[in-house]
Amino acid sequence: MAILPIIWAPDPRLKVVSETVETVDGRVRRLMDDMLDTMYAEPGVGLSAIQVGVPRRVVVADAARQGGEPRPLRLVNPAIAAASDETAVYEEGCLSLPEHFAEIERPAEIDVTYIDETGEERSLRAGGLLARCIQHELDHLEGLLFVDRLSAVRRGIILRKLAKQKRARLRESA
Ligand code: NI
Repeated sequence: MAILPIIWAPDPRLKVVSETVETVDGRVRRLMDDMLDTMYAEPGVGLSAIQVGVPRRVVVADAARQGGEPRPLRLVNPAIAAASDETAVYEEGCLSLPEHFAEIERPAEIDVTYIDETGEERSLRAGGLLARCIQHELDHLEGLLFVDRLSAVRRGIILRKLAKQKRARLRESA
């Protein structure tokens, strides 16, 4: 078990397009376990590998209700196979953009294909918070943050605040 440091925006690493995982080996499994530990510690409902500095198409998520039984998901090379025409608006946050939130519209339901931790090809249908979370994490794999879905003006305001927050945090931890 390890808690990994999360990269905060703005950071050029968060703009990198992540690469496909060729083999789900022990290293990938350990990465996913560490990412889950990190996500639960924050706490968050989803985390992509690029947020801990690993540019591979790996995502973890758990959209179980707070206080409910944990339902960790480990998704390797996740892809959206289908998305509903119906959309939903949710307030999104991100562990790489601490303390910032914005309402984002996305498809309400999605079908996702992925490879699980045993190397098995799988698919799932997600709605509600899980659909939201997976779409947000898939954006990370393309180098996109939720602020990239906002107007340039709103994005600029949030990123400038984040840059300031980041300098203050780095000073604190120095
Ligand atoms: Ni995020």
